[in-house]
Amino acid sequence: MSEKDLRVSKIKDGTVIDHISAGYALDVVKILGITGHERRIITIAINIPSKNFIVKDIVKIEGRALNSQEVNRIALVAPHASINIIQNYSVVKKLEVKLPKIIEGIIKCINPSCISNSNEPVTPKFYVKSEDPLNLKCHYCSYILEKSDVLCNFN
Ligand SMILES: Nc1ncnc2c1ncn2[C@@H]1O[C@H](COP(=O)(O)OP(=O)(O)OP(=O)(O)O)[C@@H](O)[C@H]1O
Ligand SMILES: [Mg+2]
Ligand SMILES: [Zn+2]
Repeated sequence: MSEKDLRVSKIKDGTVIDHISAGYALDVVKILGITGHERRIITIAINIPSKNFIVKDIVKIEGRALNSQEVNRIALVAPHASINIIQNYSVVKKLEVKLPKIIEGIIKCINPSCISNSNEPVTPKFYVKSEDPLNLKCHYCSYILEKSDVLCNFN
C-alpha cells in the first residue's frame, strides 16, 4: 500500500449500510439517531465511486447490528441502500431495505391541527404514495409529507 492509499480499517462487528444514493449518508445517520457522541467507530463516506450508482455513500457502524425497524427507517431516506451485517470482519447477512406501504409511529404529521398532534392518544399513520421521491399522505388529515419534512419530524 503506497503513501497515498489511506485506508479506513475494517470493522469487527456491526453494520455496513452500502449503496446509499450519493449525498444521503448524513440523512441516514440522522434518522438512526446517531449523534456522534456514541462510544463506537462510525465511518461516513460520501461520493464514493461505484459501478452501478456512479457515486454512492456508505455508512459503517461498529458494534451495532441494526434491527428491522431501523432498516425500515433507512428506507425512508435511502430506499436503494443495502444492509450488511458484519461479524468477525466478514459479511454474515445482507438485508433488503424495504419501505412498508404504511408508516406508523416513526414520523409526526407536519400539520399542527392534525388530530395526531393533539392530546388524543392517536398514533401517527401515513400511506406511502411514492418511494423515490418520497411522498407520504397522513391518514388523518391527508397532508402530504416529503423527504425534507420526514427529516425534521421523526421520533
Ligand atoms: N469488515 C468490514 N468492515 C467494513 N466494511 C466492510 C467489511 N466487510 C465488508 N464491508 C463492506 O460492506 C459492503 C458489502 O461487502 P461485500 O463483501 O458483500 O461486497 P459486495 O460483494 O460488493 O456486495 P454487494 O453485492 O452488496 O455490492 C462493501 O461496501 C464492503 O466494502
Ligand atoms: Mg459492491
Ligand atoms: Zn396529519
